[in-house]
Amino acid sequence: MGRIPEETIQEIRNRVDIVELVSSYLPLKRSGGNHQGLCPFHQEKTPSFNVNEPRQIFHCFGCGVGGNVFSFLMRMEGLSFPEAVKRLGERVGIEVEETPDSPAEVRRREAYEQLLKINDTACAFYHNTLLEAPAGAPARRYLRQRGYEGETVRAFRLGFAPERWEALAEHLKAKGFSASDVRNAGLVREGQQGRGDYDLFRNRLLFPISDLQERVVAFGGRVLDDSLPKYINSPETPVYQKSRTLYGLCQARDAMRHSREVLVVEGYFDLLALSRAGFGNVVATCGTALTADHARILKRYVDKVLLVFDEDAAGRQASFRAMDALLPEGLATRMVSLPAGADPDSLIQDQGADSFREAVAAAKPVLEVFMEDQLARNDDSVEGRARAAEEVLGRLRRLPSDLEKDLYIKQLAGRTGLAEDLLRDRRRAVVSSRAPRVQVQQSRRSGPLSPEGRLQRYLLRLMLADAGVRQRVKEAGTSVLFLDEEYRGAGDHLLKLQRPDGCLPENLVDTTQDETLQALLASLLLEEDQAWADDAGQIFDDCRRAVARGQLKMRLKELDSLEESARCNGDDEALHRCLRERTEINLKIKKSP
Ligand code: UTP
Ligand code: MN
Repeated sequence: MGRIPEETIQEIRNRVDIVELVSSYLPLKRSGGNHQGLCPFHQEKTPSFNVNEPRQIFHCFGCGVGGNVFSFLMRMEGLSFPEAVKRLGERVGIEVEETPDSPAEVRRREAYEQLLKINDTACAFYHNTLLEAPAGAPARRYLRQRGYEGETVRAFRLGFAPERWEALAEHLKAKGFSASDVRNAGLVREGQQGRGDYDLFRNRLLFPISDLQERVVAFGGRVLDDSLPKYINSPETPVYQKSRTLYGLCQARDAMRHSREVLVVEGYFDLLALSRAGFGNVVATCGTALTADHARILKRYVDKVLLVFDEDAAGRQASFRAMDALLPEGLATRMVSLPAGADPDSLIQDQGADSFREAVAAAKPVLEVFMEDQLARNDDSVEGRARAAEEVLGRLRRLPSDLEKDLYIKQLAGRTGLAEDLLRDRRRAVVSSRAPRVQVQQSRRSGPLSPEGRLQRYLLRLMLADAGVRQRVKEAGTSVLFLDEEYRGAGDHLLKLQRPDGCLPENLVDTTQDETLQALLASLLLEEDQAWADDAGQIFDDCRRAVARGQLKMRLKELDSLEESARCNGDDEALHRCLRERTEINLKIKKSP
């Protein structure tokens, strides 16, 4: 994509009305100065989704998302920023012309478009072959045997590659695609010794894999019998990166948004089986590990992930690797356990959809399973249990919520017989040796705000309203006023935006593309009209104190682990130093009001 000129973006923003845009997705009711509705990004019964017409922003007080027309559409449709700009441009009749790219950039983009076209043409060819060509008869029979009808075939655009060496190669050639472009798409291979190019997929049932805009980017192909390899997949190309692609994501999107949950399965057929049984919120990993990129994509739609992997050692390992990717995103992750040897497809086939539903209802938090697994791996000696505990503590640090960490520590203590306090100290030791020094207290969405959080929000609101306050913040420095990184970032952002005349630009939410910052700004702007304390001096002092206290508390935590290691090493001198410092800090904290 080229660069879209700022004026065009501005113009589109001016012409699109956010109330109208949002109303095309969900009903809104006027309520005071805002419009309200049920949030489309999480499930709720009472409306906490607010749209503010004068400011052209939205914010959900339930789940914390917020932003402008572009971010709304990006989230709603899974678009990138330039795509959202274009889509809205079409809506209001403004053509988005990108500033011309360098020749290399143009070539890259054309090649990209060409890859998509080739995949799309191939998909249509394979799909028609499966639906109606005589050559498709074996695949039709195979699907019927497994109980799949035309409906599934159409919904997933399934296809069949006939048993010929050059069926697709010839078809694409006839459609005018060059041999080298077709090779780049990975669907044919270069012929050897003067022979023509030949097809990658022959005599295979095909599953087209799409991106979020429903464009086919690759295929997976299954044999119709027991020959090997059972599946082959398109190679990675510029349009297809395995680590960012999930099979069935497009079809699952609405269902995921509504249930806020997703089932992650391993196989193509598992996905088809679940979809046919009425589970719409399913994606499949298709032979690759679940990555952090996958986790970030899922996070847009869901809060909870149910992993349905094979019930064997490899499946467990895959689940634990997936856990490492999912937990840092704050996604509640559970493992669904199926009878040994079964996959969702075979289970539903043999025992019906209810048995699968029961398995889902009985899913266990992945960390709990991990804990059991570690305990089983290590022997029952104190050392063995301690080793298992260390492994679990290493994972706990990935949990963004302190509350959850605490619950797991209790559980871990119960299971290992090791003292809770000891485990708590070990966790800190793990945390402080690996995490940055100043602890970041993320203001997690929807949770109640801490007093410090409220204070910092007050200060930000004051900054929004008053140039004098901004000046004072600038002089004092945001690092002594904001304890949390998120709020400090917002403070820095506002200072940076301040124009030479001391004013802030009008459309604050539009000044950043960072989702978290956008949401924070939107929520501050929507709250602004309410009554709030405005004693700036008091708030300044309170913030300053909160930061100072926060730093002292952080140091206390560090002392915990320093003391422990001094004790272990028998270093009495170091231990005394620590204890002295601790006394001093405790005194300071007590003295500060
Ligand atoms: P499975 O062997 O469990 O197959 O592989 P399946 O999905 O249950 O298919 P059926 O029911 O036997 O027809 C799980 C997934 O792993 C990937 C595929 O994505 C498959 O769906 N896989 C498997 C490969 O990529 N290559 C292989 O050779 C085998
Ligand atoms: Mn299967």
